[in-house]
Amino acid sequence: MRIAFFDAKPYDKPSFERFGAEHGLKFKYFETKLNEDTVNLANGYDGVCVFVNDTVNAAVIDRLCEMGIKVVALRCAGFNNVDMKYAFGRIHVLRVPAYSPYAVAEHTMAMLLTSVRRIHKAYIRTRDFNFSLTGMTGFDLHGKTVGVIGTGRIGRVFIDICRGFGMNVLAYDKFPAQGLDNGDTVRYVSLDELFEGSDIISLHCPLTEETYHIINSDSLEKCRRGVVILNTSRGALVDAEALLAGIKSRKVGAACLDVYEEEADIFFEDFSGHIIEDDTLARLISMPNVIVSSHQAFLTEDALSNIAETTVKNIVGFFENNECPNELCYRGGSTEDCKCGKCF
Ligand code: NAI
Repeated sequence: MRIAFFDAKPYDKPSFERFGAEHGLKFKYFETKLNEDTVNLANGYDGVCVFVNDTVNAAVIDRLCEMGIKVVALRCAGFNNVDMKYAFGRIHVLRVPAYSPYAVAEHTMAMLLTSVRRIHKAYIRTRDFNFSLTGMTGFDLHGKTVGVIGTGRIGRVFIDICRGFGMNVLAYDKFPAQGLDNGDTVRYVSLDELFEGSDIISLHCPLTEETYHIINSDSLEKCRRGVVILNTSRGALVDAEALLAGIKSRKVGAACLDVYEEEADIFFEDFSGHIIEDDTLARLISMPNVIVSSHQAFLTEDALSNIAETTVKNIVGFFENNECPNELCYRGGSTEDCKCGKCF
């Protein structure tokens, strides 16, 4: 089996080579992202393997089908970059539903601690032998309230970490988890209550039509002055212009962003010698209370190994046994994990 692997980076290859060799899969690594201009590179392969910023829209799906390709293997959990409505019945879409919720949850806490204890400033100051503490005052996380939107795998690990710091948790989820609300330190509340009662808000829900711009000017208006916004989920959960306005007006005390609405053409690439065209991103990065990482929360050795192992098993299962437990289905008019394991 030969698989065209798009948006390939050096850190992807060791794990995919190892698990691919064990299961007789050969990957051809393309550095370019998959989109309408690059899709023809997949000609002659049995499937494509894609990541978060590859584009699997109707035009790409049509061309993949014309080339006889039957499977799109996502090496990630999120699938907002795939037009699932169009894909369903045409091409099989497999994903890695979970690989390390700890990787993302721990990165979220790393960003929060960096921000509120000014570690990013301290690192630069002391390298320049500037040992002044002026402007470095932070605040204790202990006793603060964190609002967690999305209490799935990652959200729940993040809640555990926050509880370890002695924080109180206000949670919101469209489908609340059984047994999480203890009526005291962890409580499910309405979205408005979460906005009004949280010192820190962390996003761990998927990007859907319902959650698009869940952080916007209206929701920020409801928040406490000085609220810290954490987004390690998907960029378009946050209206970046509204966030910028909130930072300028001092309503938002800090923001930690691992994802950005318009990241697709920017993140994962080195633009250090270039002039960035995206004024909103440039302005956000220029703020002393904004930390941006480049969709890096997943990037641990443990997660990379799990991603490669599951992706390879998904592809092999699909081709050899005609089934895959990690197939995505759009049968009921919304995307969910397939119940039958061999959709359409
Ligand atoms: P999950 O599927 O276990 O949990 C998602 C939760 O969001 C579920 O409890 C679900 O009920 C809830 N949800 C769905 N619709 C909602 C809505 N309208 N409002 C509130 N909650 C809603 O997913 P998991 O593994 O926890 O991942 C969460 C997100 O993290 C993914 O969707 C992905 O976008 C992002 N992610 C980011 C990574 C990174 O490197 N920055 C890596 C992996 C995932």
